[in-house]
Amino acid sequence: MIDPNAVFDSGRLLALPTETVYGLAAPIDRPDLIARVFALKGRPPSNPLIVHVGSVDQARACAAEWSDMADHLARRFWPGPLTLVVPRAESISPVITAGQDTVALRMPNHPVALALLKASRVPVVAPSANLFTRLSPTCAADVAAAFSAEDVEIVDGGRCEVGIESTIVAVDETRQTVTLLRPGMVGSEALASSLLPGWQWINAVQSEAELSAIAPGRMREHYRPVKPLTVDCRAQAPRSTPEGAVTVSLPPDARDAARALYRRLREADQQDGCSLYLRLPPTALSDPSWAAILNRLRKAASHWLVPSD
Ligand code: TXA
Ligand code: MG
Repeated sequence: MIDPNAVFDSGRLLALPTETVYGLAAPIDRPDLIARVFALKGRPPSNPLIVHVGSVDQARACAAEWSDMADHLARRFWPGPLTLVVPRAESISPVITAGQDTVALRMPNHPVALALLKASRVPVVAPSANLFTRLSPTCAADVAAAFSAEDVEIVDGGRCEVGIESTIVAVDETRQTVTLLRPGMVGSEALASSLLPGWQWINAVQSEAELSAIAPGRMREHYRPVKPLTVDCRAQAPRSTPEGAVTVSLPPDARDAARALYRRLREADQQDGCSLYLRLPPTALSDPSWAAILNRLRKAASHWLVPSD
């Protein structure tokens, strides 16, 4: 296996395969390489990075306070597609957290990611390994299409099993609240039913205005394909594809749909045609297991057609 420390010592970044999407990794104690992450992605400095850890102990060391609730969620859902936002330890640079006094932490569930994280001297920051506003990568070739081998050592860990970015929750011990900031495939129901007694579940994703205040940078991220995408959720959606459009189809099961989402959008984007057209079953709009997929599609779509249209 590749030595992550040798890659970082040579001044390059590492493309880290995880179960959600590929990440663009740099060690938390290398401000020069963290600056490269922002620069290569074209990412604004106001958008904080997720710190990836190889153990709960490492996560605890990145936090100023590690509450019983954070510990409970970590032990229940890690390694896995869940990110915990907790108070930031002094050792975590404010460049990582975009000046905030909280830090986002996650332990990915991918054998290659875990091996690399265990081999790394320190935890790594890893935003999705895509250019800012573009679709997240779900295989090594997607990363290679965006970054050069001179800048990034790509570790091929195969296709991402989950396919969309992790669920993000903020754990606030003072308020005794766990707040959903970004939906993902660890669903709200599973999280809300896992809280310790006395803690309250808050879904901040319902209110876009509230969310932009809690998760800076989030609103400006779009996950866009190059071509304009129309998402059609009307029951009476036309059976034939609009002229010049490439059809994107998703499997009916939410987990399969999440796994296929970015790949299908990328493939359709590369075909001849001036736009993309994706039809969703109207039931998906009210199905909790589709919430995270709808969240990403809302950011990707130029046109969103609902049953009342
Ligand atoms: O699945 C994932 O989470 C992937 C893989 C690579 O692990 N990573 C990922 O990173 O999606 P990124 O940078 O594309 O999205 C991270 C988001 C930011 O846009 C921001 O909204 C949120 O995490 N975030 C990071 N730190 C935060 C903080 N302290 N408070 C609130 N939100 C934070
Ligand atoms: Mg991203």
